[in-house]
Amino acid sequence: MRIISLSLLEVFRRSIAMLLQAAPFELRNLTLLTLISSITPVLVLFLNKIIINEIAGLLGKGTTNKPINLIFHNPLLLWSIGGLILINLLSDSINTIVGFVLTSLRDRVRGFVQGRVFHKIANFQDIALFETPELLNLVQLAEQGVHRLEQLSFIIITTLKGFFILVPTVLISWSITWWIPLILLISLIPSIYVELKYRNQCWEVEKTQANISREMNLYKGVLIGENYAKELRLFHLQPLLLERWSGLFKLMFVKMQQVRKKGIAVVLFWSILGGAGLALPFVYVIIGALRGIYTLGDLALYTGLILQIRQSLYLLINNSSDLYDILMGTSPIFQILELKPKMGLSATTNSHLNYQPVEINKVSRNTSRKPITKNLTGIQIKNVSFSYPGNEKKILHNINLTIMPNEMIVLVGENGSGKTTLAKLLCSLYYPTDGEILWNDRNLRSLNLDDIYARIAVVMQDYARFPTTIRENIGFGDLPSLQNNTAIISAINQAGLIKEVERLSKGLETPLGKQLEGGVDLSGGQWQRIAIARSLMRLSCSELLIFDEPTAALDPKTEHEIYNIFRNIASNHIAIVVSHRLSLAKLADRIVVMEQGRIIETGTHNELMALGRQYHLMFTRQASSYQL
Ligand SMILES: Nc1ncnc2c1ncn2[C@@H]1O[C@H](COP(=O)(O)OP(=O)(O)O)[C@@H](O)[C@H]1O
Ligand SMILES: [Mg+2]
Repeated sequence: MRIISLSLLEVFRRSIAMLLQAAPFELRNLTLLTLISSITPVLVLFLNKIIINEIAGLLGKGTTNKPINLIFHNPLLLWSIGGLILINLLSDSINTIVGFVLTSLRDRVRGFVQGRVFHKIANFQDIALFETPELLNLVQLAEQGVHRLEQLSFIIITTLKGFFILVPTVLISWSITWWIPLILLISLIPSIYVELKYRNQCWEVEKTQANISREMNLYKGVLIGENYAKELRLFHLQPLLLERWSGLFKLMFVKMQQVRKKGIAVVLFWSILGGAGLALPFVYVIIGALRGIYTLGDLALYTGLILQIRQSLYLLINNSSDLYDILMGTSPIFQILELKPKMGLSATTNSHLNYQPVEINKVSRNTSRKPITKNLTGIQIKNVSFSYPGNEKKILHNINLTIMPNEMIVLVGENGSGKTTLAKLLCSLYYPTDGEILWNDRNLRSLNLDDIYARIAVVMQDYARFPTTIRENIGFGDLPSLQNNTAIISAINQAGLIKEVERLSKGLETPLGKQLEGGVDLSGGQWQRIAIARSLMRLSCSELLIFDEPTAALDPKTEHEIYNIFRNIASNHIAIVVSHRLSLAKLADRIVVMEQGRIIETGTHNELMALGRQYHLMFTRQASSYQL
């Protein structure tokens, strides 16, 4: 998978497009409000000028009237003071409203962007996304980027504000002398430059540290996650793991702090030098006032304008370096959204642009459930070798195997011999590195992944424990049957769970897992039977059954019952059962023995026993401990 590189301009364009899609109303309203509130500083300066000039005039006349009377007898002064108070009130109210709209904008953007990213990752067909460090880093950076995109909306609004203030103030300041805005801008340029350079350095550090923050997240999961809580305490691992976590934190912090310290010194130096740019215009207007060219009111207006220009320039510059920062941080979001899986021809991977919430009751797979071809010829594995993505080591070596229609194969072999890996290739979770797998004469690579997945019933070795109800944990096996109680109860029955479910007061609606309110926890064996029931839900539409160590957590009696069920249900399917317990092997049409990524023996139980090699050895060894 190639990660595309995007120019900052392109990231900016996409970010704006995404913000406009996420919260068009908020953005429009905020722009309007900002425009209104930006006019207020200039108005205030003008009114101030009038007030000062009027008061200076009154003081010059040396009147003995009471001050309050003076105000009321001078309509210009009175209106200016009233106007000043009103404008301040207006500006305060607008600021309050802007605050509210901004938070709503932030929440909308977060929900929208996270939804996009989750949709993309959850629909990404290529499991390599979760196994390649470079891609995992990108996922981590994209997650952090969501926060940056929220910031972008703030930056846009304050930039608009700076801009709306800058334009009229610059225009007015030209009436003093043309070089004032120019000198203010020029004096800020060096600090812009060093600041951008500093931000760039910070981002480079952040990028190289994505793997450290990912590792920290892993430790976080262990330290505060439910799955590890028991063993963490029993083995007293907290001090060790906390130390590792804080070690990583320090590593990250120290590096960032080095860049910060260097950056602050340089940025500070240049902005102090830039301060000279403020002194010149100031001295110019003060001299003008002393010469009597400007009134006191003018002096207040001009110095106010100069400060406003500098402030808004500063804001714009600060924002532009923040923007730079933000754009670098958000680019992983678009890189993730643009990521093309190597696997799968399915349209779902690219459908993020049409992302819409799904109504669970209306879910149905958009695949026709006809057999992949009518001419059923089974599965041919031809010269298949395999290495996991990003890993040179060959896990499967030149596997050749033909599985006939309706045949039940039991795959046996020691831990790590490659059984699960072969099962994953048969499910099309990965494509072979070399060789090919044909299903009814068609290469798995040429088939739509959704079509393949819709025809397979699987119990994975590391099956999922969904944090939801029993109904959903089982019904997820066949979404259209989620509300079909008969189908769900029948699956529960076959998986031998019916007594347990009947005992629960909420029955099928009982939440599973302690994290859920009112949830019950199941034993390992019960969870495994839930996973079996889930796969049984899709029996009628499946052509291939893959069960990877489906009974590892079950007691011998239940295991025996489940095996008999497998034998029955396998009759109209190709069934591949991985097992290192050999009691099922006797039921198989054929046994395939694997060792170190190779197939070393195939045959029936009797044939392999007669052969007297690895299977014979394994069987006799197990027989002595299990009395098979
Ligand atoms: N996702 C993975 N990435 C890299 N190597 C893996 C992955 N999963 C399994 N392996 C390696 O592949 C080999 C075979 O594993 P597996 O197929 O799970 O064996 P089995 O199911 O026979 O116990 C092991 O050496 C294991 O370390
Ligand atoms: Mg395995």
